[in-house]
Amino acid sequence: MNVSQRTITPIAWVNGRVRFLDQTRLPSEIVYRETEDELFLAEAIKRLAIRAAPLIGIAAAYGLVLAMNKLTREDLPARRSAFDRAYALLASTRPTAVNLFWALNRMCRTFQKYEHLPIESLQELLLAEARAIHDEDASMCERISVLGAALLPVGAAVLTHCNTGRLATGGKGTALGILETAWEQNKIKHVYIDETRPLLQGSRLTAWELSTLGIPATLIVDSAAGFLMQRGLVDAVLVGADRIVANGDVANKIGTYSLALLARHHHLPFYVAAPATTIDFSLTSGASIPIEQRQATELFWLFDNDTPAAEVDCYNPAFDVTPHELISALITDVAVIESPTPERMLTIRTRLETERTRAETSR
Ligand code: MRU
Repeated sequence: MNVSQRTITPIAWVNGRVRFLDQTRLPSEIVYRETEDELFLAEAIKRLAIRAAPLIGIAAAYGLVLAMNKLTREDLPARRSAFDRAYALLASTRPTAVNLFWALNRMCRTFQKYEHLPIESLQELLLAEARAIHDEDASMCERISVLGAALLPVGAAVLTHCNTGRLATGGKGTALGILETAWEQNKIKHVYIDETRPLLQGSRLTAWELSTLGIPATLIVDSAAGFLMQRGLVDAVLVGADRIVANGDVANKIGTYSLALLARHHHLPFYVAAPATTIDFSLTSGASIPIEQRQATELFWLFDNDTPAAEVDCYNPAFDVTPHELISALITDVAVIESPTPERMLTIRTRLETERTRAETSR
């Protein structure tokens, strides 16, 4: 693969269409797809061609623009029902990452504010909002990267899980953005990448991103993490998040909880990096986070065979929940919360509410 990862844009709005990189084809092929159809986009999210919490939020925002761009002279009730249909379609794609619902709700507020305007103006304002969601995510990645890199010691060997880089966000990434920044600061000795069964976001996507950045990295099977820690090869664990709730519990790719337990046993810091858009203050604990269940066939595709070898049931949760007690720090674009607790999470909440009020009064 000789295409620089820095030139890869996982999603873009190009001439009235959404252009996205089909991540199911990576790393062997770089395939871009273009669509004017929100249904096609929703299917791409479902099959993980577009994936990861921040990126599916951005995609959903563009999906609503596509749906509204199909309208010509419809009256208000027809506009509303078209918007509601597209909202429901996109909201049904994946249940765990809260960024999806955050972005849809933000677009909904824009729609409600301007729904009575001439259709061209409404369409332009919705596109502007989707672009703002995209651009703001890139800025959040920058802030997370700087704050997170400051936590890593010089010469750090870091273990990461799933994919949290440019392929996962509107910018340089969350956990991988931190690794890129820390690498530029000469702090990274090595990165260990969990392959991330069953869909191999680690071996297909993170390995590719890190190799194109020139960061020394070693791929391991997920179950090797404890052994590496036992041998003293890992200094810190750094992962992303799909939803962080009010007490600091974190949902992330299946296997994250096991890593947090291993890190605690081996006295290693366990860091979670995510934008504030991944925080859901409406849920008080991780037990209430909806966990996506995926098809059993995902457990067998590696063997070129979509049926189990024996008559057994399959259980394929895509995410798990790490209790806040196991987290050394939450690294967000707003603040770093060390040893998160419900009380400490309130500091972020207060900051976000103050910023929102300031933004609303300045409009
Ligand atoms: O199923 P995926 O590939 O969408 O899961 C992605 C993850 O779990 C990421 O760690 C998370 O979304 C954070 S990405 C910045």
